Amino acid sequence: MHFLFAFTCFAFLRLASAATADQWRGRSVYQVITDRYALPAGADPTVCDPNQQTWCGGTWNTIRENLDYIQQAGFTAIWISPVQQNYQGPRTAYGDAYHGYWIADATKLNEHFGTADDLKALSAELHRRNMYLMVDVVANNVMSTSTNPDYSSYMFKDQSQYHPYCPIDWNNDTSIKNCWLGDTKVTLPDLNTQDPTVLSTYQSWIKNLIQEYDIDGLRIDAAKHVDASFWTPFCESAGVFCLGEVFGDDVGYAALYQESMDSVLNYPLYDAIVEAFTIPGPGNMSAVTSVLNSIQSAFKDPTVLGNFLENQDVPRWHSLSVDPQSLYNAIVLTFMSDGIPIMYYGQEQMLTGAADPLNRGPLWPSGYQKTTAYNLTATLNQLRNYLVNNSDWAKSRTQVLQTGPHGMAIMKGDIVSITTNIGSPAQNVSVFAYTPWPSSFSSTDVFTCQQWAVGSNGTVEVQYTKGGQPVILVPDSILQGAGLCQPVSQKKSTLENGAHLHSMLPAACMALILTLMVLIL
Ligand SMILES: *[C@@H]1O[C@H](CO)[C@@H](O)[C@H](O)[C@H]1NC(C)=O
Ligand SMILES: *[C@@H]1O[C@H](CO)[C@@H](O)[C@H](O)[C@H]1NC(C)=O
Ligand SMILES: *[C@@H]1O[C@H](CO)[C@@H](O)[C@H](O)[C@H]1NC(C)=O
Ligand SMILES: *[C@@H]1O[C@H](CO)[C@@H](O)[C@H](O)[C@H]1NC(C)=O
Ligand SMILES: *[C@@H]1O[C@H](CO)[C@@H](O)[C@H](O)[C@H]1NC(C)=O
Ligand SMILES: *[C@@H]1O[C@H](CO)[C@@H](O)[C@H](O)[C@H]1NC(C)=O
Repeated sequence: MHFLFAFTCFAFLRLASAATADQWRGRSVYQVITDRYALPAGADPTVCDPNQQTWCGGTWNTIRENLDYIQQAGFTAIWISPVQQNYQGPRTAYGDAYHGYWIADATKLNEHFGTADDLKALSAELHRRNMYLMVDVVANNVMSTSTNPDYSSYMFKDQSQYHPYCPIDWNNDTSIKNCWLGDTKVTLPDLNTQDPTVLSTYQSWIKNLIQEYDIDGLRIDAAKHVDASFWTPFCESAGVFCLGEVFGDDVGYAALYQESMDSVLNYPLYDAIVEAFTIPGPGNMSAVTSVLNSIQSAFKDPTVLGNFLENQDVPRWHSLSVDPQSLYNAIVLTFMSDGIPIMYYGQEQMLTGAADPLNRGPLWPSGYQKTTAYNLTATLNQLRNYLVNNSDWAKSRTQVLQTGPHGMAIMKGDIVSITTNIGSPAQNVSVFAYTPWPSSFSSTDVFTCQQWAVGSNGTVEVQYTKGGQPVILVPDSILQGAGLCQPVSQKKSTLENGAHLHSMLPAACMALILTLMVLIL
């Protein structure tokens, strides 16, 4: 009993986190462009025009001051823009470095986003809320406006520590790894990551960054543009979960990177979801089934892949697909199949923007409304957080039960998710699937809270005579545990109990620690 209490207590007071892939598997991530998430009090909310490609005023402090919006949607981690100092010269052909990817001296922080103490305060506040901090890091390259830069102001000062300039030939993998991203107006000088001193400098740099700011995980920019073997020692030094960006729909190529880092962003699933769910679009449901199957056979661990529908490099979903039901259905797939769901800020507000820089608009004009997409996300996170806390659901593997012309049914653990691409207008079509459930089985759709009949031979059927809403069938025991679809009075008392426990715990832990200290002395 006392041991159990002490254990809970120290888990609660966890100081340094250094979270592993195993700990990240159950998390749910909200991706923020630091400059665009929230304004300081008193700033003019009307002046941010993404077309201008310049700073709009978001900081680490404004993220910290506005975490309720993220946490109330059920997210348990955030991913923020790179924190290093960026290019500070005159405006370039592509504007200013508001996005944080134009690395100058990596030993310094980006003063546009705040001070070292501000970043520490953000990290501490996230940990107080039991949330994780994922920081975007760029190691592949720095930024310049020349193909022959003076390197004296960068962390790596010697020309020999960079690959010589060459434009990338996208049909040549050596060129993809060693030549320079960017163009001749904005060059991204490519570090010679094969050089042992570059590696060892990066190793101590990342170790120090993680420790100094108590970072729980890394999103690694342009991972594909560095030899995979570089990332093994780099991520070992980091000692936290590494999630790499390997752009492209080639499952085999992306899977190779999971040999040298914990995980990668799930671009193959993203591409398939776009092919299946966008309206208008090819509506090819088999693309998703096919990629889910190849992911399971190619990746070492599909359950830690980073699932997403939007980010700073791809079009906003709403610019690809006008029908909001297509978004709701696609979100369900990213949350309820294998992987860590990641939502790009503003996706829940139906922000539009087909390409960089328009897909990086400010969030504040939305008024942070509790939209339908926001509420749907909160329900998904509530269900998923409960499953993660109370079972090995996150480790279980997705099974495709059925793929049809209008939709598909998947099962992960005890949860059956049925998604469709027909959109909002009602159609006299349906998706049915065979489940392992007996016909007496009691399950409920988490979105409508309607009980669902299981037919003979375990069949379930969703008819779209009222439009193409997603359906998630949950066994009633789980529904109760997760506090979903409960009568209002019951829900309230659960929350009050939770709040009570939460406020008592720190005081009780302090008392325990004081007692231990007295005993030791
Ligand atoms: C591929 O790119 C590398 C680096 O630029 C270059 O040295 C090599 O000759 C290229 N190979 C081919 C077949 O073009
Ligand atoms: C749909 O996707 C599957 C799997 O990727 C592919 O084999 C098929 O050709 C696609 N169908 C169409 C019509 O594009
Ligand atoms: C979202 O849920 C909140 C309650 O948590 C409710 O006030 C709001 O009206 C809902 N939004 C929509 C669009 O239904
Ligand atoms: C899951 O557990 C963590 C602590 O381990 C707690 O903070 C969180 O509220 C729990 N979430 C749910 C949905 O039970
Ligand atoms: C819906 O389709 C079924 C056959 O698939 C047909 O029997 C039924 O009459 C249709 N209902 C309506 C309202 O059109
Ligand atoms: C019963 O379900 C299985 C799949 O679980 C299916 O293969 C079989 O055809 C079904 N039988 C009938 C009579 O529907």
